[in-house]
Amino acid sequence: MTDLYFGGDYNPEQWPPEVWKDDVALMRQAGVNLVTLGVFAWSSLEPEPGRYEFGWLDQVMDLLHDGGVQVDLATPTASPPPWFSLRHPDALPVNASGVRLTHGSRDTYCACAPAYREAAAGIATALAERYAKHPALAMWHVHNEYGTSCHCDHAAAAFRRWLRGRYGDLDRLNAAWTTAFWSQGYADWEEIQPPRATQYLVNPTQALDFRRFWSDELLDAFREQKAILRSFTPDVPITTNFVFGGWVPVNQARWAAEVDLVAIDHYPGSADLGAEEQTAFGADLARGWAGGRSWLLMEQAAGAVNDGHRMHAKEPGRMTRHSLSHIARGSRGALFFQWRASRGGAEMFHSGMVPHVGADSRRFRELAEFGAMLPRLAELEGSEVEADVAILWDAEAWWALQATHLPSSDLDYLAAVQAAHRQFWAAGIGVDLVDPGADLSSYKLVVVPGLYLVSDQAAASIARYVEGGGHLLVTYFSGIVNEDAQIRLGGYPGAFSEVLGVRVEEFHPVAAVGLASGGRGRLWSEHVNLAGADAVDRYAGGVLDGMPAITRNAYGEGVAWYVSTQLEDEAYGALVGQVMQGSGVERIELPAGVEMVRRRAGESAWTVLINHGEVEAAVLVSGFELLSGTAVESPLKLAAGGQAVVRA
Ligand code: GAL
Repeated sequence: MTDLYFGGDYNPEQWPPEVWKDDVALMRQAGVNLVTLGVFAWSSLEPEPGRYEFGWLDQVMDLLHDGGVQVDLATPTASPPPWFSLRHPDALPVNASGVRLTHGSRDTYCACAPAYREAAAGIATALAERYAKHPALAMWHVHNEYGTSCHCDHAAAAFRRWLRGRYGDLDRLNAAWTTAFWSQGYADWEEIQPPRATQYLVNPTQALDFRRFWSDELLDAFREQKAILRSFTPDVPITTNFVFGGWVPVNQARWAAEVDLVAIDHYPGSADLGAEEQTAFGADLARGWAGGRSWLLMEQAAGAVNDGHRMHAKEPGRMTRHSLSHIARGSRGALFFQWRASRGGAEMFHSGMVPHVGADSRRFRELAEFGAMLPRLAELEGSEVEADVAILWDAEAWWALQATHLPSSDLDYLAAVQAAHRQFWAAGIGVDLVDPGADLSSYKLVVVPGLYLVSDQAAASIARYVEGGGHLLVTYFSGIVNEDAQIRLGGYPGAFSEVLGVRVEEFHPVAAVGLASGGRGRLWSEHVNLAGADAVDRYAGGVLDGMPAITRNAYGEGVAWYVSTQLEDEAYGALVGQVMQGSGVERIELPAGVEMVRRRAGESAWTVLINHGEVEAAVLVSGFELLSGTAVESPLKLAAGGQAVVRA
């Protein structure tokens, strides 16, 4: 049994040395066992090119080690020091409008600039040389939240190299990018630019390829550092913290194979129950990237989350519930940004484990209680999260659906996937978020929400899954384009028309639309023709009055459902219930507001219950409750805001 990790980003360079001893004492008090050190410490470590100051870090590493705290040592390459930018102006990033950014924040570099790569390798080598044998070193944390991109000439050159690798010759590129449209045909590789600011709509395939290119380019940058660190410490795990967002050009599912442990940062930006849903979604996504294995919540907020406009306070108990949700869904612990809230700097109003008021505070006490709770959960490590349902997730489909030329700018891939996830989350049904090309055979039900772009191979594998007896639910605006972001002709939803037994003629974006069953859809509707499927529900009113809205098709040994609008939650929940009926997915009675996750290892099974509601809830479960260390009988009474982990 291994201990779950508990701790966070520790930035001692922001504080005088007198504070460090207090820090370690408080960490011991709270039960902290791992800190991420030095993420933004480049200018403190290398104040001038090639002159290193490791004295302070030596002291901190020793102090932590003496205090029993392990170190996840970071390479500080996400924020080069001012001297670097001054010496290498060509390594400052250029945005799509051609504006070269200046030093003054963080992440201000172009990862394609040779000077940047060299400097990053330099500081990574120096750190590895110095600390390879330090007993506190437990993990390497490369960089921070890879995700920035750039449109400069270095980036343009690297983009062209990448395109040559993908397409081989210009004819193939011209065909894939449909450059015959608007006279964009390329006769020489040098003519190709990153998608910079232009007159009107951008070529969608060029924009998509630029995202793909950046994902690969950043991955190369990560690999360079990984190789250096590995050469010094072959046995120390290496990771980087994945950041999630529509702007991020990193395909985490592809990167996951390159890290020893998938790690994510998670900052749900919602004040209501949306934050709990997002937490579960982020955690399920991380487990998907990790291929079902355990992963690590590298950062979350100890208290208030700042969504860029205002802070959302975390009420008492909420930090614990979010952390438990992550752990239940496979995280090997819970870490935070950051240990001590900063007294100055751009993020001084971001919460810390030790708040501005000090350790004599509700927040610190809750963290210490949580730290004491964690060892009781250690037996969960090694067990698997149970999931009969898979929802497909694909970063490239998301990027493709961020193009500027779509039939509705309200089409939102993330929202479509989250809406699907929400239905199962609310019902306490385990869901894996998996890659469209993944082996689906172990799932009883597969949901494909808004998968605008899908490859032939993935579409074929999904069809085989149904043919072999699987149950499938596809939602509107799926299967429309191939990997070159070109329309699949012959009727939407192209890639899935046959398995769904429908042929869609036209799209009808709408504000809202009624259904014959009384349910309601919004945003979108489609002119659906039946081509083998049965209509389960029909549009009521409007131009599509009487036409199929939801269909069901028997295909091979399985069943494929299609819903051609964004159902409102109530109708969506009802549909999911209907779809699950024949699929063998087990449904349980769960009080509203209670989150449930089941884990299993051989004959042992655990049920994690978290009551996000404001009233006590009774759940039919019995066994040994790990947090209280007592036997519990069914029905288990779960206090408002309470949690339980029951071993059956
Ligand atoms: C993360 C980042 C941290 C800190 C935190 C809070 O995304 O990795 O360095 O900025 O957000 O804003």
